[in-house]
Amino acid sequence: MFSGKVKKTALALLVSGFVTGTAYAAPEFLADFHAENGCDSCHASAKGSVSDDNLSHENAQCVSCHGDLKELAAAAPKDKVSPHQSHLIGEIACTSCHKGHEKSVTYCDSCHSFSFDMPYGGKWERKFTPVNADKDIQDKAIAAGAKETTDVVIIGSGGAGLAAAVSARDAGAKVILLEKEPIPGGNTKLAAGGMNAAETKSQAKLGIEDKKQIMIDDTMKGGRELNDPELVKVLANNSSDSIDWLTSLGADMTDVGRMGGASVNRSHRPTGGAGVGAHVAQVLWDSAVKRGTDIRLNSRVVRILEDANGKVTGVLVKGEYTGYYVIKADAVVIAAGGFAKNNDRVAKYDPKLKGFKATNHPGATGDGLDVAQLAGAATRDLEYIQAHPTYSPDGGVMITEAVRGNGAIVVNREGKRFMNEITTRDKASAAILQQTGESAYLLFDDSVRKSLKAIEGYMHLQIVKQGNTVEELAKQLNVPAAELATTVTTYNGFVKAAKDSQFERPNLPRELVTPPYYALEIAPAVHHTMGGVVIDTQAEVKSEKTGKPISGLYAAGEVTGGVHGANRLGGNAISDIVTFGRIAGASAAKYAKDN
Ligand code: FAD
Ligand code: SIN
Repeated sequence: MFSGKVKKTALALLVSGFVTGTAYAAPEFLADFHAENGCDSCHASAKGSVSDDNLSHENAQCVSCHGDLKELAAAAPKDKVSPHQSHLIGEIACTSCHKGHEKSVTYCDSCHSFSFDMPYGGKWERKFTPVNADKDIQDKAIAAGAKETTDVVIIGSGGAGLAAAVSARDAGAKVILLEKEPIPGGNTKLAAGGMNAAETKSQAKLGIEDKKQIMIDDTMKGGRELNDPELVKVLANNSSDSIDWLTSLGADMTDVGRMGGASVNRSHRPTGGAGVGAHVAQVLWDSAVKRGTDIRLNSRVVRILEDANGKVTGVLVKGEYTGYYVIKADAVVIAAGGFAKNNDRVAKYDPKLKGFKATNHPGATGDGLDVAQLAGAATRDLEYIQAHPTYSPDGGVMITEAVRGNGAIVVNREGKRFMNEITTRDKASAAILQQTGESAYLLFDDSVRKSLKAIEGYMHLQIVKQGNTVEELAKQLNVPAAELATTVTTYNGFVKAAKDSQFERPNLPRELVTPPYYALEIAPAVHHTMGGVVIDTQAEVKSEKTGKPISGLYAAGEVTGGVHGANRLGGNAISDIVTFGRIAGASAAKYAKDN
């Protein structure tokens, strides 16, 4: 480790001239720049071998010289978005972006387009490598036998995987959780609007009358009745218990709002309407870590191993730095998420979505589905892929449905409303694509802004236009001012009358009368893949061949199909991953104990 003085100088270098790339131009990679310090300044041994796939030692060395993320963010200029100001969960490792022996990358640019001037940086790009790409090398690694043994292996560190880890650990199982990305949390950490649950304590406190049966009916209707009704019952009947479970782990789920397709307000999120996903994922991460889960990043599961009777025996992992190795396990939980970020795969199932942007994290490529299918799992509904109606092309981020739920309206380039803003996503996306320019504007006032903390994130990204009057805002948007003013006045009349006689919008939470007025351009982007592995109510994976459960194989979350039918309702995925993640973890732990 390094002295305080060295650390101060290194921190100053990072946040000043060095960051601009002007001070040291000659070396090609970060390792060249550090070369004179010797290999031991980064690595644990002079041979240059890495500590583990988390690069635990190497990252600790970076921090000892340069400080941690918080220190770096605090030292950065206040008027700019700092590359170290992370909203992601867990301990973000320096090596997620700063690479020693290859070009560095700005991980944030997998979603945003900040174009930070990264020292020794290259452009963010990611090619999808099929899980069975190195079959011969993989076969050799399998033939070499298991390197270690555990009760339960979990694939994926999103909400489903972390919830499974917590419940499996609580049931007494030894758990290894494997995540292929350098940053944990999957899509879960990005979730914004809320987690649906019926008959909760928070709803009761707010005087909201809801029933589990209404949640079931809404979910089936939203899914065009193509959902597995038994899974939907599990979802709704366990939803308030899952909120209590999260609360017992330290989560704040007390704010309740409306999302598309819901008959009543049942979308739970932290106080003030802050984003739900980062909070839930952080709580689950902390709980899994506290319970001693062995979590490995940069660790991609490429095969599920089975014996001659088709019973699961473990997994083959590709460690980004340590290579292929086998973990022997009694049970495996697939919690590897969906494939919305893999446009080739999306377009194969739904050609209309070819070339569409996606709201997802870069790891949402469908690997989990591939390993499950190679292990003989049955799949369903893969053709149902959802576009989220309000993605900001300027910011590269999804704008939560909760903005509409809290009162925003959607207008076209002619300054007119054209839909019930809180209809289901399939209908909203289709309506937006019919407008001039295949996009629209989300419009709200300061009272909506104040009702939802998540909006501050969009302000921070500087993607929101504003005006002191509706007419002033119209000018900024290049939309006819008189038409837009009439639209807002008419809408406010509907709110006063508690009836939208134009589009039958069911919730009219507030008039838009508090300046400033805000708007941003929105267009649909691929958001959720409804289909996936077939499971039963105990999260057991069913075999394609026999239709019966594959012994020792479980799955939960976006990698599965059946819960959401043809179209998922906003807020139902977080409910799904927490409830089925818990069930999968408990089922896997029980199976491991009994076998
Ligand atoms: P993920 O959270 O995606 O985690 C899967 C993990 O598995 C990933 O980290 C991935 O890298 C990893 N993985 C994949 N393959 C492998 C492999 N082979 N080996 C090892 N690891 C692997 N839903 C709601 O209900 N409410 C919301 O407000 C909401 N907002 C959203 C906002 C955004 C921007 C997005 C993108 C989604 C939102 N959703 C929301 C949907 C919801 O977040 C996801 O459906 C849900 O979080 C998926 O959880 P998961 O655990 O199944 O998968
Ligand atoms: C959103 O907040 O709009 C996304 C919610 C979801 O995908 O369920």
